[in-house]
Amino acid sequence: MTVVWDDITILTVGTVVNAANSALAGGGGVDGAIHRAVGAELYDACRALGGCPVGGVRLTSGFKMSSDYIIHAVGPVWEGGDNNEAELLASCYREALYLAEDEEITTMAFPSISCGIYGYPHEEAARIAVQTVASTLPECLGIEMVTFVTYDQDMEEFYLGELESL
Ligand code: APR
Repeated sequence: MTVVWDDITILTVGTVVNAANSALAGGGGVDGAIHRAVGAELYDACRALGGCPVGGVRLTSGFKMSSDYIIHAVGPVWEGGDNNEAELLASCYREALYLAEDEEITTMAFPSISCGIYGYPHEEAARIAVQTVASTLPECLGIEMVTFVTYDQDMEEFYLGELESL
């Protein structure tokens, strides 16, 4: 597992993970960046998928992006922590790994799901991300590299701290 500061839309990996909404309708943040990078064909592909539940994931091609695929993950909106947010966020990471393994994808890049518009506390989200990926990877032996892509100074420190504590 590694941490990088970068724009996820330019990474050359098997799949990037998108922080989507349950309608898969595109939006701002990383969802907006990915949709801007691909264009209308991604919107059409997402619309054909018919939505995705919170905690779930869906796959599309990466189209003209440098990643072969996009895994759209729907993170929870932070509502104070008593609404199963932690399990739903963990589910995004776990299901994305399972899906990548099934599709024989070997390298993945995750944004900080739910840490922007959805308001998830950054330190707790970084803990969930690293712990979930670390505990799921032994079931996904085809996955060779998982990269946590950070866009925020604090997230990089939180990710690195969690990786050191493994
Ligand atoms: N590359 C990498 N990370 C990015 C990028 C980018 N180009 N753009 C934003 N981020 C980071 C943000 O700084 C944040 O840490 O991605 C993280 C996730 O933030 P959001 O994109 O706001 O996603 P989220 O909080 O999960 O909210 C999802 O926002 O864009 C809409 O349609 C989306 O409704 C959904 C909601």
